[in-house]
Amino acid sequence: MHEPSAARLGWIPPYLFQELDDLKSRAGRDLIDLGEGSPDQPAPKPVSAALTKALKNTENHRYPSYPGKLAARAAVASWYRRRFHVELDPETEISMLVGSKEGVAHLIWGVCGPGDTVAVSDPGYPVYQNQSRLCGATPVPVPLEEKNDFLVDLDWLSRVAPRIKLLCINFPGNPTAAVAAIEFYRGVVALAEKYGFYIVNDNVYSELYFGRVKPPSILEVPGAKERCIEFHSLSKTFNMAGWRIGMAVGNARLVKSLLKIKQNTDSGPFGAIQDAAIFALQSGARFAAANRLMYRQRRDAFCGELVSHGWGVNLPEATFYVWVRVPPGHDTAPSGESVSFNFTRRLLSNCRVMCAPGTGFGQYGEGFVRFALVAPERQLKEAARRIGNWLAAENGE
Ligand SMILES: Cc1ncc(COP(=O)(O)O)c(C=O)c1O
Repeated sequence: MHEPSAARLGWIPPYLFQELDDLKSRAGRDLIDLGEGSPDQPAPKPVSAALTKALKNTENHRYPSYPGKLAARAAVASWYRRRFHVELDPETEISMLVGSKEGVAHLIWGVCGPGDTVAVSDPGYPVYQNQSRLCGATPVPVPLEEKNDFLVDLDWLSRVAPRIKLLCINFPGNPTAAVAAIEFYRGVVALAEKYGFYIVNDNVYSELYFGRVKPPSILEVPGAKERCIEFHSLSKTFNMAGWRIGMAVGNARLVKSLLKIKQNTDSGPFGAIQDAAIFALQSGARFAAANRLMYRQRRDAFCGELVSHGWGVNLPEATFYVWVRVPPGHDTAPSGESVSFNFTRRLLSNCRVMCAPGTGFGQYGEGFVRFALVAPERQLKEAARRIGNWLAAENGE
């Protein structure tokens, strides 16, 4: 008898959010779920209206083109010009995606294989590490530590650079919310040029920022297009996570490698969704601004409440994640379990609040948890209150 699963499935752990779903299913009523970064608000009404209209076009019911409609790619190019002052060729330097997740995964498959080393942000989006393993490459965790503001230590990177083929980074970061400045990208691109590796810059949170300075694109660095591909998504910017639409932009050869895998795997995003995405990219700036305001208010409400209960958390400058160290007194766990996972479990059973354990994002996430601000302000305050009261009771206050 043959095993019904490939040996490679044994090379990766169970998917983090599936594990959290399993935990949640045993949690009972009244749960406040801040585990997964899945926006709780609907897409803007005019974007939904654009989709309804696009459904009437028979062309959209046929198979889409692999890289996406030229009109959609042109809309991406023009958004890039307006937002980042970067010029892109819609014919060769852009591909529409069925969400950026498949894009990142397929890019890794298109570029790497056995014998190759992929440097992956740790803590980071699990897809970089797991897809590297699945395609037979060797992932090397790139530590993102508090002492470096959760950015990559470029001295450390220069030491591993000679043996890596691909570097996967993501700023504004999931789960740390760290924001990279253009000077940082300059340093990374200089190393890529010197040592000949390629860069995936996952920029899906570029529009969820709260400071005056907008997160840049790595492609703003002169010459970056020689070595970089950048990923974007409409999932978070326009609350369209379920629609599955994103884009890859940058080096034409990297886009081509990604497309070769895609051509053999999927058939591109639904044409009607691409039409709605064109509308969102062209006319959605005020919706993105409203989203930023909403998440900023949520952030202030949640973090303010936690701080008032004595849990010191830093205000994130971007993303909708709050990345926080497990409070003192809770930084131990029974052997075999991480501190992060133990705290997540106890938070769930004592407060009925779901967060994500830092170790789900890699070994350097140990000792941290992540809250996603994907619930209304009232619920976020309630979650923080429950947590605060529980911590006070645990401390015997
Ligand atoms: C860093 C990062 N990249 C990519 C994605 C995937 O986004 P999409 O919905 O475009 O597939 C996510 C989703 O949470 C993410 O956090």
